[in-house]
Amino acid sequence: MIAQNTIDTVFETARVEEVIGDFVQLKRAGSNLKGLSPFVDEKSPSFMVSPVKQIWKDFSSGKGGNVVTFLMEHEHFSYPEAIRYLARKYNIEIEETEQSNEEKEEANEKESMYLVSEFAQQYFHNILTLSEEGKAIGYSYFKERGFTDETIKKFGLGYSPETWDAFTKEALGKGYRLEYLDKTGLTIVKDDKQFDRFKGRVMFPIQSMSGRVLGFGGRILTNDKKAAKYLNSPESDIYHKSKVLYGIFHAKQAIAKQDNCYLVEGYTDVIQFNQAGIENVVASSGTALTPDQIRLVNRLTKNITVLFDGDAAGLRASVRGVDLILEAGMNVKVCSFPDGEDPDSFAKKTPYDELVHYLDENAKDFIQFKASLLMREANNDPIKKAELIRDMVTSISKIPDRIKREVYIQECSRIMDISEQVLVDTLAQMVQKDVADAGKKLKQEQKEKVFEVVKNQEGIAASKVDVQYELERKLIEILLLYGNAVEEFEDVMLKTNEEGEMTEVSEMNNYKVYHRIYLSLQEDEVELANESFRAIYNHLINYYHQNETFEMEQYLMRLEPELAREVTNILMEEERESLHNWEVQQIIVKQKNQTISQYVSETILTLRWFLVDRIINDLKNSLNREVTADNSEILMMAVDYQKLINTFSKKLGRVMSRYS
Ligand code: CTP
Ligand code: MN
Repeated sequence: MIAQNTIDTVFETARVEEVIGDFVQLKRAGSNLKGLSPFVDEKSPSFMVSPVKQIWKDFSSGKGGNVVTFLMEHEHFSYPEAIRYLARKYNIEIEETEQSNEEKEEANEKESMYLVSEFAQQYFHNILTLSEEGKAIGYSYFKERGFTDETIKKFGLGYSPETWDAFTKEALGKGYRLEYLDKTGLTIVKDDKQFDRFKGRVMFPIQSMSGRVLGFGGRILTNDKKAAKYLNSPESDIYHKSKVLYGIFHAKQAIAKQDNCYLVEGYTDVIQFNQAGIENVVASSGTALTPDQIRLVNRLTKNITVLFDGDAAGLRASVRGVDLILEAGMNVKVCSFPDGEDPDSFAKKTPYDELVHYLDENAKDFIQFKASLLMREANNDPIKKAELIRDMVTSISKIPDRIKREVYIQECSRIMDISEQVLVDTLAQMVQKDVADAGKKLKQEQKEKVFEVVKNQEGIAASKVDVQYELERKLIEILLLYGNAVEEFEDVMLKTNEEGEMTEVSEMNNYKVYHRIYLSLQEDEVELANESFRAIYNHLINYYHQNETFEMEQYLMRLEPELAREVTNILMEEERESLHNWEVQQIIVKQKNQTISQYVSETILTLRWFLVDRIINDLKNSLNREVTADNSEILMMAVDYQKLINTFSKKLGRVMSRYS
């Protein structure tokens, strides 16, 4: 057992923001830090860390706690595992109280598997660097590949002796149980015989995001055509091939910092890139990326650059796998290397500056890359060309963002010399098929069309999405806190004066806040985009319509659990404001001297402004695109909406001026 004073030291030393920072990209938000939830897929940050309070809260999943509970939730550590992890991170010596046999027995199975894997890693590494056989065979092999001592150490590379059971014997002698050697696949148990799985191979330990050894890849050193070049640990309770990415432990911080992740195929590609000075690189270990692996990366960045080997043979197949990444809404670039080169060989002989330059120059947008590739393949063969159009459009149909899809349609039409209409029709056909498969999801998307942001070159889009989310949330909060309050609101009407001119006349009228909000949103026929906000909104409006009074407790009790959790989060005002960094995003915070009425008006106006602004951008976009179409109608609409915006800004000015 770990001694109490070690535990105390760990708690005194560990900083929650540093520990979580290894897993989640955190940004300052007032006195707190915020980031994307590591527990759910989300687009706007709802995960918050308070360095002052040394706690964290995930508003998406409802989880929260201190530094240790984070590790338990995120890494699925047991309590002692979490303490040990922190002790290691902060170089705190662990004082152990003597372990009884019973306690040893109790150490859970998974932990035992981790421990034996860690032991194996140490053992193989020691053999590589210290034993005669290891140095002569394994070490010299790595040297030949150009790996430095530092690199060998960083990646914990090793060598498994060319003896049937050298490792197994050693492990058993050290008290590790055969059960766990078997379960991790390090030892193959047949009847009463035991063999080392990785005999005679150089070893690449595969680490989790937090650096624990989960399994191994072992490369053969002979030219035996019958034996697999790489042998990997079998699936086990601690090693799931589809859920790990080789190199993620060393890459995670660089990925977040560079806001890009290089994806390669092989162990040696990752290692060579690291040695060359590029750390934001991971390998899928020879297969197409799985959704779980994409999620690992998605947590750290939205941008992925897939690096392909130079040989064109596998290119077509590799390109297929990329659709999954598009589906996750990530931005994908691809980069290939000169004939006969893979990332490993290319990085090995290219100085850092040149390598970076090469990657910058040659990384192409995936859709454009694929279109050009297929074009070359089709070679004017009309049947092939028809097939490749479908192939291309399939990729495009995977992109969740409608505007992005349309931009790509244009792009492909140009590259492949096909009319946009053909591509759009094919896309429509495909989408229709999707409707049958997943009708609900698509309906949702169509409903939300109005709200979709036009992605522009400056990349403001992401922050705009956030703004809308925050505004909608704000609106719900207002409904919850002030829905039944009666307030005075300004109505502006057009009236004809004595001279027969139209003038604006303002009039103050009393409204219940919920009613005012309801009427205002109806005016633009606007619906909230966020699904749970919309559900809460509809529920709340109904509730207010049907009930004279509003008691929060009563209300929450009747709410279905999912919405109730959302409502609770919304009510956690203090944390929320620091989370969302209102001022920076130019979202309104209620001023001390501001009336509820002003606050409500301002929020509604800003939301409407925002939504209409999007519509205008949408229209402008279609103007740019549809060169041949009759543009006058769209132009008129854009002008009308622009007028509306002007009204908003006038009204907002009026609301603001009352308390400024
Ligand atoms: N791989 C595997 N099993 C194999 C072959 C390959 O698991 N039998 C995985 C490994 O993760 C390997 C990656 O696929 O790193 C890429 O394979 P390949 O391009 O053949 O290997 P390289 O990394 O180029 O290996 P090397 O340079 O050592 O020949
Ligand atoms: Mn290679």
